[in-house]
Amino acid sequence: MSDAMIEVRNLTMRFGGLTALDNLQLDIHRGEVLGLLGPNGSGKTTFFNVLTGLYKASAGTILYDGEEVIGKTPQDIYRSGVARTFQRSRLSLPLTVFDNIVIGDYQHMGHGLVFNLFRRRAFRAEYERYVEAVRELLAIFSPPLVGRLFEPVETFTMIDRRRIEVCRALMSRPRLLLLDEPSAGMTHDETHELMDDILQVRSKMSDLSVVLIEHEMNVIERITDRCIVLNYGKKIAEGTYAEITADPDVQTAYLGEEAA
Ligand SMILES: Nc1ncnc2c1ncn2[C@@H]1O[C@H](COP(=O)(O)OP(=O)(O)OP(=O)(O)O)[C@@H](O)[C@H]1O
Ligand SMILES: [Mg+2]
Repeated sequence: MSDAMIEVRNLTMRFGGLTALDNLQLDIHRGEVLGLLGPNGSGKTTFFNVLTGLYKASAGTILYDGEEVIGKTPQDIYRSGVARTFQRSRLSLPLTVFDNIVIGDYQHMGHGLVFNLFRRRAFRAEYERYVEAVRELLAIFSPPLVGRLFEPVETFTMIDRRRIEVCRALMSRPRLLLLDEPSAGMTHDETHELMDDILQVRSKMSDLSVVLIEHEMNVIERITDRCIVLNYGKKIAEGTYAEITADPDVQTAYLGEEAA
């Protein structure tokens, strides 16, 4: 079997006259941490949205273990092992850590929590299974959160909220985790702590592939195995951190943004 878990070929996504992804070709390898870089508006989030089934590509293919992803529902893709976090937090602040993690998973799994409320014994057993599963996950990802499972999210710091979102994505035990700017709004130190956690998860879940959209270059340098740079929806560079930062096209793309 090839190294590539995901193979993206000729992928194009148009919104009216705007081409957000332009004939994109890339692979995501098993077990790697891949950095996805590019100036604002270069198509990074759009790529996640197409890969997770939120948007249907205008053209091209995405193979996941050789099987076409485009045309599948977001639920099917989630169930097949692709999970994500969003650029803007999607936590419900008044609800507890547990509720947020479980509701996220239930929504994607598509079996209704309300329906189960009418089957109280089944619900009880399922509820306890969930509590156990959430505790296990938090114990790996963020042990201090285990004791605060039933506290509302609004009482947590920014970094803990981000940890909760990552845990929610991990509930499905994904094979591919997509993180959209997890460091947004955090301090330098918090960002590095969160990256430590992500490296920790990866060491415990050795098959897990991670795609990280991130603007902070020192984070990219520290945790990625490989990087891909987008500009105007096209791949302009691919390689190690050292390779892509030395690339003149990448330098121009970022300088162009600063000048603008
Ligand atoms: N649903 C949509 N409808 C119309 N245009 C969209 C939509 N989603 C994204 N776009 C456009 O597609 C382009 C790529 O946007 P995208 O959000 O993928 O960029 P990005 O690389 O994630 O940027 P950022 O770093 O700012 O998050 C932008 O020009 C954006 O305005
Ligand atoms: Mg984005």
